[in-house]
Amino acid sequence: MNDLTPRPEHRFSFGLWTVGWQAVDPFGVATRDPMDPAYAVEKLAELGAWGVSFHDDDLIPFGSSDTDRANRIASFRKALESTGLVVPMATTNLFTHPVFREGALTANDRDVRRFALRKILRNLDLAAELGASTYVMWGGREGAESPFNKDVRAALDRYAESVNILCAYVREQGYDIRFALEPKPNEPRGDILLPTIGHAIAFISELEEPDRVGLNPEVGHEQMAGLSVVHGYAQALWHGKLFHLDLNGQNGPRYDQDLRFGNGDVKSAFALVDLLEHAGYSGPRHFDFKPARTEDESGVWASAAACMRNYLVLADKARRFRADPDVAAALADSRVDQLAKPTLAPGESLADLRTEELDIAAAAQRGAHAEALDQLALEYLFGTR
Ligand code: GCO
Ligand code: MN
Ligand code: MN
Repeated sequence: MNDLTPRPEHRFSFGLWTVGWQAVDPFGVATRDPMDPAYAVEKLAELGAWGVSFHDDDLIPFGSSDTDRANRIASFRKALESTGLVVPMATTNLFTHPVFREGALTANDRDVRRFALRKILRNLDLAAELGASTYVMWGGREGAESPFNKDVRAALDRYAESVNILCAYVREQGYDIRFALEPKPNEPRGDILLPTIGHAIAFISELEEPDRVGLNPEVGHEQMAGLSVVHGYAQALWHGKLFHLDLNGQNGPRYDQDLRFGNGDVKSAFALVDLLEHAGYSGPRHFDFKPARTEDESGVWASAAACMRNYLVLADKARRFRADPDVAAALADSRVDQLAKPTLAPGESLADLRTEELDIAAAAQRGAHAEALDQLALEYLFGTR
C-alpha cells in the first residue's frame, strides 16, 4: 500500500465552515465553540491539507466594521503565509441572514437581489486578492416551498442576468476566476433552483460567457436526489465543466447529511475516486462536510484527517484495481473497451451499416459479465485483494 500521509501535492482543501461548524441543527443549539479562522488554517496545515476555502461571512461576520474586516483579513493572511496554505476557492453566504429568507439573486424583492450582487462583488475582490481561481455559487435560498409564489422562468432570467453580470465584472477586472455552480435539490428551501448537475449544465449553455462557468457538484446532493454521483460527475467531466467539487458522504435520499468523505455510500465513493483519478481530474480535492454534532474539537480533526485518508486509501485501491491483470481481463470480458470505439468507423457510410448482418440470436445470448467485474471492485473495497 502506498504512503497514506496527506501532503500538499494531493491538493486537499477544506471550507472554513466545515471544521468551524458549531453544530447548530434545526433541533439543537451549538455543541462546539466558534473557531478562529487563523487557528483552523494552522490545524489544517498540520494535518497535511493544501488549501482552505471560505464564505465571506466565515471570515468577516455579517455587519462587521471596516476596521474589524481589515483586521480579520490580516490575521487570516498571516496564517496563510506562515503555513503555506492557499485559497483555491471562495464563495458568498447568501443564505444565513434573514434578509435572504426568500432568496438572493432570485428573490422576488428587487432590492434584495441588488444587495446580494453587491455582497458577491465585494467578496469577489477579496477572493481575487487572496488568489482564488474558483468562485462557487450555491443558491441555497434560491427556490420556494410553494409553486405559486415563484415564477421559475423569471427567476432563471434573473439568475442568468446575475451570473452574466459577474462574468463581465471578472473579465473587466482581469481576475483569473471562473464560477462554479453548486446544484442541490432541496434544503434549506423546499425546492431549490438548479437542483441537479444536469439542470445546471443546461442553464450554463444559456449564459453569455458559458466558458467562464462550470460546476461544483457535491457528492451528497446528487444522492439526495436519488441520482448516481458517478454518472453526474462523469457527465460534468464530459462537458468540461468539473471546475471544482465538494466531497462528502450521504446515505441515500434524506436530509443533507454532509458526512465525512467515505462515510455513507462507500461503494460510490470508491467509484468516484476511481473516476477522478482515472480521468486525470487535476482540480482541488475539496471537502465540504459537517463534523458530526456528537463530536468535540478532537473529533473535528479526526474527521477532517479521515476525509483525506479515505481519499488516499480509495485512490490506492483504484490504482491497484486498474493495474490488476484479472481486472483487465474482466474489463475485456465485459467489452468495456468496445464502447470507446466509434459506432461507425472513419470513412464508413450508412450503406456499410445497412448491409451488415447481426447474428441476433447469438448477440441476444451474450451476457455482460458485469457482475464478475463488480465483484472484483468489491474485493478491493473489502480489502480481500
Ligand atoms: C450544503 C452546501 C453548502 C455549500 C457551501 C458553499 O451542504 O448545503 O454544500 O455547504 O457548498 O455553503 O456555498
Ligand atoms: Mn451538502
Ligand atoms: Mn457544498
